[in-house]
Amino acid sequence: ESGLITIDPGYKNTGSTQSAITFLDGEKGVLRYRGYPIEQLAEKSSFLEVVYLLIYGEAPNRQEIQQFQDKINHHTLIHEDMKKFFDGYPSKSHPMGQLAALVCSLSTFYPESLEPDMNEEEVDQTIIKLLAKMPTIVSWIYKKSMGHPYMYPKNKLDYVSNFLYTTFGHRTEEYEIDPVVVNAMNKLLILHADHEQNCSTSTVRIVGSSNSNLFASVSAGIAALWGPLHGGANQAVIEMLEVIRKDGGDVDKWVEKAKSKTDSFRLMGFGHRVYKNFDPRAKIIKKACDDILDKLGIDDPVLDIAKRLEKAALEDSYFVDRKLYPNVDFYSGIIYRALGFPTEMFTVLFALGRLPGWIAQWKEMRENKEPIGRPRQVYVGSGARDFKEISE
Ligand code: SDX
Repeated sequence: ESGLITIDPGYKNTGSTQSAITFLDGEKGVLRYRGYPIEQLAEKSSFLEVVYLLIYGEAPNRQEIQQFQDKINHHTLIHEDMKKFFDGYPSKSHPMGQLAALVCSLSTFYPESLEPDMNEEEVDQTIIKLLAKMPTIVSWIYKKSMGHPYMYPKNKLDYVSNFLYTTFGHRTEEYEIDPVVVNAMNKLLILHADHEQNCSTSTVRIVGSSNSNLFASVSAGIAALWGPLHGGANQAVIEMLEVIRKDGGDVDKWVEKAKSKTDSFRLMGFGHRVYKNFDPRAKIIKKACDDILDKLGIDDPVLDIAKRLEKAALEDSYFVDRKLYPNVDFYSGIIYRALGFPTEMFTVLFALGRLPGWIAQWKEMRENKEPIGRPRQVYVGSGARDFKEISE
């Protein structure tokens, strides 16, 4: 065909869309949701306010957030038949594989959500259902992994408290909602809520661009987030820090290992496609680590290793020359662990935080009536040739 096709592996220099949701400046380490700096949102808003802000474009007032919470609370239960899906998984199956399948399976309970030409009200209903059911699904995945009974949501609780209740609550005693834990969870979820056209969000957009339903589009995003180069890094960071701790905590040795081109080992939680400066989220999470672990009276040896590893890398020209800094995944697992989550649940928590971003971006793509995603290629395979039947 006429016209030059330029290949841009990993879309490093390709813009896929115009968006009004999230702004980030990689050089300056700036991140804003709908114009609000992440530093202010992390301090002054709740995760549910940020969910509303990302999806509807403006921050809610007190009445709007209450109505939003009430609408969500009507849909926190999942169909009892979904229990059969949970029971079907082998006990050690990875939570991300379960989450991707369970979220896609939600579409089978809501045939109306499969209609490509849903009106605004029906789109909003579908969004509310997914927002409401995701925490229930995430907490039940955790309960199943522990062999504990499922906890049903309590509709008088706010979004994050309800999630903590269904996750850590037990039928045998009252669950004490700890404000330190609620505050830490809100902050972490806010910091993960959106990040413009990252790998998983681009996946949600391209799947949604074929008019596939919201549940299936988000399920595809969950699959993309699972990768250790993306959201899966938060699990890989803690596994890496544990290996370094068991190896005696010699961070310089591991920094050298990460520089080697013959060794596939990378410093997980380091580097970023866009940030060529400190990831602003990593800064906030690092500060929160000290505060939360102190308040919870936890002394986690890997926090000291993480700080020493960061220092050693940032003094090394290999990392400085390549502008490799800690990213959002470097410290987040230390807090998740302090809150009581097992390592395999970390990336599922990233998905819970990123859900409003995926939804907002999917909604914006539909409202902008963007065309189906279908890039071209440069063909480098065999020239035309005749096929011989196998008998010959
Ligand atoms: C997230 O896109 C987003 O916004 C993602 C995210 C979001 O909110 O959605 O921010 C969340 O995914 C954060 C990133 C989590 N991933 C990790 O921490 C995994 C470790 N990091 C890397 O694998 C890497 O830095 C990426 C994947 C994050 C970015 O990869 P790029 O942009 O394709 O960069 P690259 O792999 O080409 O690396 C450039 C150079 C290479 O060296 P040279 O070939 O130039 O000699 O830097 C080196 C790489 O070898 N390098 C590292 C490194 N990261 C890059 N070397 C050692 N350790 C690392 N972590």
